[in-house]
Amino acid sequence: GRKWTEVKALNEDLKDQVALIRGRVQAIRAVGKKMAFVVLRERGFTVQCILTVTPDVVSAQMVKFATSLSRESIVDIEGVITVPATTIKGATQQVEVQVKKIYCVNKAIPALPINIDDAARSEEEIENALKAGEQLVRVNQDTRLNFRVLDIRTPANQGIFRIQCQVENIFRQFLLSEGFVGIHTPKLIAGSSEGGSAVFKLDYKGQPACLAQSPQLHKQMAICGDFGRVFEIGPVFRAEDSFTHRHLCEFTGLDVEMEIKEHYSEVMDVVDRLFVTMFDSLNDTCQKELEAINEQYRFKPLKYLRKTLRLTFEEGIQMLREVGVEIDPLGDLNTESERKLGQLVLEKYDTEFYILHRYPLAVRPFYTMPCYDNPLYSNSFDVFIRGEEIISGAQRVHVPEYLLERAQACGIDVKTISTYIDSFRYGAPPHGGFGVGLERVVMLFCALNNIRKSSLFPRDPQRIAP
Ligand code: 4AD
Repeated sequence: GRKWTEVKALNEDLKDQVALIRGRVQAIRAVGKKMAFVVLRERGFTVQCILTVTPDVVSAQMVKFATSLSRESIVDIEGVITVPATTIKGATQQVEVQVKKIYCVNKAIPALPINIDDAARSEEEIENALKAGEQLVRVNQDTRLNFRVLDIRTPANQGIFRIQCQVENIFRQFLLSEGFVGIHTPKLIAGSSEGGSAVFKLDYKGQPACLAQSPQLHKQMAICGDFGRVFEIGPVFRAEDSFTHRHLCEFTGLDVEMEIKEHYSEVMDVVDRLFVTMFDSLNDTCQKELEAINEQYRFKPLKYLRKTLRLTFEEGIQMLREVGVEIDPLGDLNTESERKLGQLVLEKYDTEFYILHRYPLAVRPFYTMPCYDNPLYSNSFDVFIRGEEIISGAQRVHVPEYLLERAQACGIDVKTISTYIDSFRYGAPPHGGFGVGLERVVMLFCALNNIRKSSLFPRDPQRIAP
């Protein structure tokens, strides 16, 4: 095979060398009949390629052929790397390719439903372009999602999904290094695992069943099975009614479950170390991706502390009360009060990442352990980035009789979870864990305004295609 160079690797060190590259046609500009510029893009990186009619190398037909290429067509180019005297606008790479050979590998249809250039512009650029009288079509979210394979070619989107991959990677690496075992639990189950009605029901060979709302029950059963510490990365299904910026009907759950020796803070310690490691690593290893996202969706880097702030629910309520927001002390926080508390925490503690724990028992799922000192509260927590929830977790009830009682009290159809409850009759250690929404982490780390931006092919109450 021939030696290929990635567009992102093209730099001044390669000056005067011949490189062979493949990319998509991002833009073409003809200068008379003897010269043409082709901007080639590969994985979000772009380079300007120049065709100049030269005897025995580049013919006038070649230039004509190049200018006839449709945008987004896949093209191979062989050429000499040169370094121009001035900076190149409209390309990420600061070198040029003097084209000697050009092949079209596969062409795209001429009329694309999305123009990648337009789709990649920031709100600010769009405003300026419109003011300058440019003809420009704002690409709305539905159009982007309808033609997602085009939309995900923008540099920002390329960055978002590489960051998503890295979040998942660090989650796995970190937990493996702390003695956790990766497991997979069934997604076809007999009943709801989180309570509530948000389940997708289906027929399982004549038996009623549903898509798992979380790995909750089976990850706890893995602890009963003596794995000690487990994690899972897998799909989670929620038949959400609410059409919001942060709810999907299918998302990727990053789940953890572990034995607790003395106190549920051991679980929060894992959250703390895991996420500080994750944020550090994203900032270190994903600089290019973060820059690309920032070009289109301006955001400030996440503020987080070396040791994650922990507030109790009561302290949180108190902070809200001080600014005049009244919350039922045994109720839950709504989206708005969560946001507000996020702001107050930022002002007071200078962090956008924190843990709120000891929630009222009444607002937590049936399997949650009440506080030993006050059963109106529970050994549970939520974790927030920029005032929005990314994690919920807790210590679980491990005494079968009490678990049954709690399930009944919460109106759970206990027939559907009898094997789960029985698992605790054969010796079960105190344990706890948490669930993280992958798309939420990426959305909020990058301060994106909609979870559909961090889901490759989102499933929401109105969308099941593409
Ligand atoms: O808060 P949730 O429902 O908690 C559980 O599933 C528990 N079993 C976790 C545990 O171990 N105790 O979901 C956990 C996380 C949320 O914090 C949120 O980040 C995400 O999953 N999430 C969603 N993400 C996208 N769309 C939805 N509809 C989501 N619902 C929850």
